[in-house]
Amino acid sequence: MQLRNVLPGDVEAYVRMRCDPVMMADLGGPLPREGMADKVRRDAQQAGADLAWFKMIVPDPNRPDVVAGTVTIWAHETEGEPTSEIGWMVLPEFQGQGLGKRAVCTLLRQARDQGRWGVVHAFPAVNNAASNGICRSVGFRFLSETDVRFADRVLKVNHWDIDPRTDLT
Ligand SMILES: CC(C)(COP(=O)(O)OP(=O)(O)OC[C@H]1O[C@@H](n2cnc3c(N)ncnc32)[C@H](O)[C@@H]1OP(=O)(O)O)[C@@H](O)C(=O)NCCC(=O)NCCS
Repeated sequence: MQLRNVLPGDVEAYVRMRCDPVMMADLGGPLPREGMADKVRRDAQQAGADLAWFKMIVPDPNRPDVVAGTVTIWAHETEGEPTSEIGWMVLPEFQGQGLGKRAVCTLLRQARDQGRWGVVHAFPAVNNAASNGICRSVGFRFLSETDVRFADRVLKVNHWDIDPRTDLT
């Protein structure tokens, strides 16, 4: 498994992840197809400038054209405080094979090794067993159940955090 930066040509993979009702069931439902090319372009720009880590998961380095999903760390402000957040998605045909967990571990090890991002937060939907499973098995600490706003929706989520310098299992 390898991670590489999102590129402008990754629109199809984004559409399969973000415009699909099953993939987006825990994120408030599918997003419209129209905005995706712009979203990929913005993410690729930010990744290229190293402002955020927008990564595609490549299961087999010998087949770099096949992508299994995304894992992302970015920064935003919560009540005036800078916050680092991680998120992930794995396409259906690659789920349940440990790829999500390995991709999350790989990116958090990179954060630790480069001294980037500090404590990293995750907000999986309360009912998303696989995403909460990733948090638990990677070494995140459960903080609380809370509501977050995502793409103009309010979602019921679990708040987890991890300090990659000390907590990675
Ligand atoms: C959530 C998602 C990223 C998981 O990726 P994955 O590659 O299938 O997960 P993994 O195979 O790495 O499994 C991770 C952990 O969760 C556990 N797990 C996986 N599926 C599970 C399920 N349905 N129920 C309970 N635990 C589950 C695994 O056993 C593993 O824990 P372990 O290491 O202790 O055994 C993927 O299913 C997905 O993208 N789903 C749709 C979109 C989504 O929900 N995105 C996240 C929004 S918060």
